[in-house]
Parts: sequence; structure tokens; C-alpha cells
Amino acid sequence: MKTLLSDAGSADPVTAGSSLEVNGETLRIRGGRPLAGRVEVKGAKNLATKAMVAALLGETASVLRDVPDISDVQVVRSLLEVHGVTVEEGDEEGSLRLDPSGAVSAHFEEIDAHAGASRIPILFCGPLLHLLGEALIPDLGGCRIGDRPINFHMDALRAFGAIVDKSYEGIRITAPHGLKGAKIELPYPSVGATEQVLLTAVKAEGVTELKNAAIEPEIMDLIAVLQKMGAIISYEPNRVILIEGVPELRGYDHRCIFDRNEAASWACAALATDGDIFVGGAKQQEMLTFLNVFRKAGGWFDVREDGIRFRRAGDLKPVMVETDVHPGFMTDWQQPLIVALTQAHGRSTVHETVYENRLGFTAALVQMGADIVVHPNGIDSPDRRVPRRALEQAAVIEGPTPLHGADVVVPDLRGGYSYLIAALAAEGESTVRNVGILRRGYEKLFAKLESLGADFDIVG
Ligand code: EPU
Repeated sequence: MKTLLSDAGSADPVTAGSSLEVNGETLRIRGGRPLAGRVEVKGAKNLATKAMVAALLGETASVLRDVPDISDVQVVRSLLEVHGVTVEEGDEEGSLRLDPSGAVSAHFEEIDAHAGASRIPILFCGPLLHLLGEALIPDLGGCRIGDRPINFHMDALRAFGAIVDKSYEGIRITAPHGLKGAKIELPYPSVGATEQVLLTAVKAEGVTELKNAAIEPEIMDLIAVLQKMGAIISYEPNRVILIEGVPELRGYDHRCIFDRNEAASWACAALATDGDIFVGGAKQQEMLTFLNVFRKAGGWFDVREDGIRFRRAGDLKPVMVETDVHPGFMTDWQQPLIVALTQAHGRSTVHETVYENRLGFTAALVQMGADIVVHPNGIDSPDRRVPRRALEQAAVIEGPTPLHGADVVVPDLRGGYSYLIAALAAEGESTVRNVGILRRGYEKLFAKLESLGADFDIVG
């Protein structure tokens, strides 16, 4: 890898002063080489950012360990800081100490300036309502993978007794009479809305019953964090979570669950490039569904104490995949898998049932030589198991098709990672633009790619 930037790492306000990698936005990649070697995955983005918000609920400081060095963490750190929380490096590498004792209200503009492209501000609502009686949410960002509404969040907050006022700047939420436990049934097991309910109910007066909750491993880890803080939360059968509110919580000391999305991304990189990658820190239990599909697609894996090794078993085979909430196949896994499926012998179908616009990234793969047809309203099929959703789409992938280099622009986090591995699997040179987005969720990405033998330059 050659870095052609003159002042790498200092121009981006989000990454300035952190150990995040160089501020590269465009990569020139020479493909056709298998990725081989070892990479480590740290704490999950989708737990670390939520656990940081939970620190606001404690009377004392919290310590979070194995926090990934990614820009989404920097965004939450900045948001906590504008709310008066002191965030410092902890007693070991990758740990953060979060002290909420000076918490104060912030203004829309301050929150907006630090939120960037993140949807995390919405999860500040419950803790801020408990602490200060008011929460403000500016317009929300996040990956452009569909409408990503927040109606479940607002309905849940109203059920707790909050008042939601919309203004031209965003949303102002108040709780003049405090927050009271509620019976809430989510229309869909949304990860964010489940977290919203947990972060609000733990200190609401009385008992909250949440039906149709999301039960992703990251949510179970957030429950573990909250229990360490003094919360009383039980997980009942059939997606029911019961939370008995308590008046006071203390700080926690917690090591984040590993990032199974990043682990799956590297596994797919091994599959797509015909490489051999050991993912240190990956664990089997949280990846059972992924590993089944990986094996059916012609992958080979070896589960060890300290991680999982991934490579091909032979020729890649076509698979039918339906994304779903946990314990189903995660929506975040389908994009890198689709790159590998372009090299499978036969027709694969990927049904995206979680988001309404998460297959748009395939257009660039087609530009690189893939044969992928997207069905915008999904496809019925007798072998399907996940209930049909109105918003779903499907991708039909015919393989194998050789991939060739192209000039592509990263659309979102997981789609962008897929472009990298497609470019690495392709013959010839590719230019991948807007890779800065990948810093949101992939720690030390360029260094990891380099250590696996990827041939690329950062060109701007
Ligand atoms: N939904 C609503 N209304 C709501 C909330 C959600 O209709 O108020 C719908 C969404 O539009 C979507 C579905 O419910 O169709 C599921 O959304 P969910 O709330 O579960 O997703 P999220 O909390 O916004 C998190 C992760 C995503 C991951 C999904 C699914 C974080 C920060 N984000 O999003 O991760 O794909 O759960 O597991 O935890 C990523 O890491 O790249 C990423 C996008």
C-alpha cells in the first residue's frame, strides 16, 4: 500500500486526533490476488455505540472495553461530550471511561454538528429524559438503505408518557410527568426500537412489557450491560422482554461482544477472492446462521478457541438466502456474500426482507461483470421460510461470471465493503471512491487489507 496523501489523517474533524486511519477517500485496487492471513475483530459497532449511550444512565462512571476505533464510535463520543459527559481513554488499549456526572442539555445545532451521518442521537432520548427531562433529535442520518423511519421509537416513547413535538429543526421530546412503565408491542422486531425501550424502561417507574422484541446478540449484550448497572430485565419466551424499573443505576465495566458483521465480511472476502483468512476474535455461537450458509455456498471453516479460519472447500455453490431478524441471516451479511455468489456455479437468490433498499449496490457489481437481476418487489418461492414483507426485494445472481475492474462509488457501509472485495477478486484495476464511509464500521481497514496481501493505493 502507498499513501499518496500529504497530510493524512488530519483533515477530517471526526478522525482528527484519533488513531483512525489515513483520510483516504479513493482507492486504486489491483485485483486477482487471494486475500490470506489473519485479522482481528474487536467489539461490535452495534453494541459499543449503544453501551456508550447507556453510560448516561449511571450515577457513576462506566468503563467499556474492546471499543472499535471507528468513526461511529467517535460520533457517539462527540455527542456524549456535547451533553457534558467526560470521555477518556481507559486503563487498557481500546477502553473508554465515560463519566456522566456533568451531563447537561445540548442544542439542536450542537447535536446536529456532531451527529454526522449517524442515527444514534435517537437512542439518547430515554437516558436524557430521565436525566434532564428533555431530549432533542436533529434530522437523522445513517446508511441510505431505505426510508429508515423512527415511528416505533416515537410510539414507544409516547407509551412511556413522553411528549413528542416536531419543529423545523428536528424533534423535541419532554416528560413533564416522568416516564412510566408501559406495555409495548413492536410491529416488527426492530433492533433500534428494542434498544430504545430498554434504555428508557430501566429507569421508568413500574414494569415494562416489550413484545416482539429484537433478540440480536448485541441486544443481549446491552441487556448484560444494563444488568451490571443495576437494571432488572428478564428475557421471556417468544420475543418478550420484561423490565422492572429501578430509581437509580450505577456505572458498568464491560467488554463488548465481538463484531460478527465484520467477521462475516472477512469470511466473505476469503470466499470471494479464493483466499484463506483467520478472523481472530470471531465466535461460533453468534454466527451459526452465517456459518450454515457459508458452508452451503462452498465455504470451509475451522472454529478455534481464538477465532475462525475461512476459505473455500472447492467450487462455490449457489444458495438461497432470506435475510431476517436474529436468529435469521442478518441483512448486513448479504452484501459481501453476494460478491462471492457471483463466482458460484449456478443461480443464487438473495431475498432482502429487512430493509426496502439494500440491493442497489449490486448495480456496480453488474458494471464489474456480474450477472445480477434485482426484483424490486421480491419473489415468491415455495422453499421460502421468512414471512413475505411488503418492502422486500430479491437479487438473482447467475454465476460464475469473471469480474473485471471498474470505477465505482461506495453507497453505504456494507455495500462499500462489497465493492472492495469485488475489486480485489476482479481482474485488472478498479477505482473505488468514497471509501471514507467504511471508517464508520471497519477498524484499521486499510492496514488489515494490506496485511492480507491486497494490492492497492490510496489516491485521494
Ligand atoms: N423500522 C420502522 N420504524 C422504526 C424503526 C425501524 O419501520 O421506527 C423498520 C426499518 O425501516 C427496517 C426494520 O424496521 O425495515 C429494521 O430496522 P431496525 O430498527 O432493526 O434497524 P436499526 O436499529 O436502524 C440496526 C443496525 C443496522 C442493522 C439493523 C438490522 C445499528 C446502529 N444499526 O439498525 O446496522 O442492519 O439493525 O440488524 O445498530 C450496519 O451496521 O451497517 C447497519 C445498518
